[in-house]
Amino acid sequence: MRRKLVAGNWKMNGSLAANTLLLTEIKSGLKGNVSSATCDVAVCVPAPYFAQCQGLLNGAAIALGAQDVSSHEAGAYTGEVSTGMLQEFDCRYVIVGHSERRAYFAESNELIAQKTVRALNAGLTPIVCVGETLAQREAGETDSVVAEQLNVVLAAIAVSDLAKIVVAYEPVWAIGTGKTATPAMAQEVHAMLRKQLQVKNAEAAAQVRILYGGSMKPDNAQELLAMSDIDGGLIGGAALKSADFLAIIQAA
Ligand code: PGA
Repeated sequence: MRRKLVAGNWKMNGSLAANTLLLTEIKSGLKGNVSSATCDVAVCVPAPYFAQCQGLLNGAAIALGAQDVSSHEAGAYTGEVSTGMLQEFDCRYVIVGHSERRAYFAESNELIAQKTVRALNAGLTPIVCVGETLAQREAGETDSVVAEQLNVVLAAIAVSDLAKIVVAYEPVWAIGTGKTATPAMAQEVHAMLRKQLQVKNAEAAAQVRILYGGSMKPDNAQELLAMSDIDGGLIGGAALKSADFLAIIQAA
């Protein structure tokens, strides 16, 4: 049985004051309602707020995560943040290959694979994002696009690391648009991704959590999370509102 994971992706949002309010509300909401034994919770925050959020999350059943990481270990890479820096703030998760990074920062499958390996070598859990654009879906290319995105990563990692990754299926057309994949549409892609993982190692594939992301909200979380291969959510907009984020955790 895979433990569900609900991870917030704050993107480039937040401030010292807003983060304090949001995390304080989430922490107090979690206390009464959700057993940390049933679901993992994480927030992936902008790098300048690692220290603040590490302090706010001290003692809470909420893990800290990053939204990106450098594929390099250290050195002359202006603007980059290393896995070692993430580790110093107790980050457990790091999102790699989010579609916004693929689209706006020209990240390739190969670079994303390198970042995944770098994260695994540092003991971090990479949340590897895959997903098709609307044009690709309409052209019937969903399976081939998503399979290729995952394949490049799978080719780069060791079999012994397979169970340590998290995959997030995020159809690009559903991100921040209010359009969600139906549970059946999402399940179909998740099942295909699981099959692909099985080719590398069946036992590990059964342990890999495959999250859905793309306008997951309190009113659709339950039916999405009820699907057999949907093991949690990567939550953008709804992760910025404590009541919505808590409701999704509750659904999980
Ligand atoms: P959204 O974003 O929930 O706002 O659609 C999800 C994501 O981009 O991870």
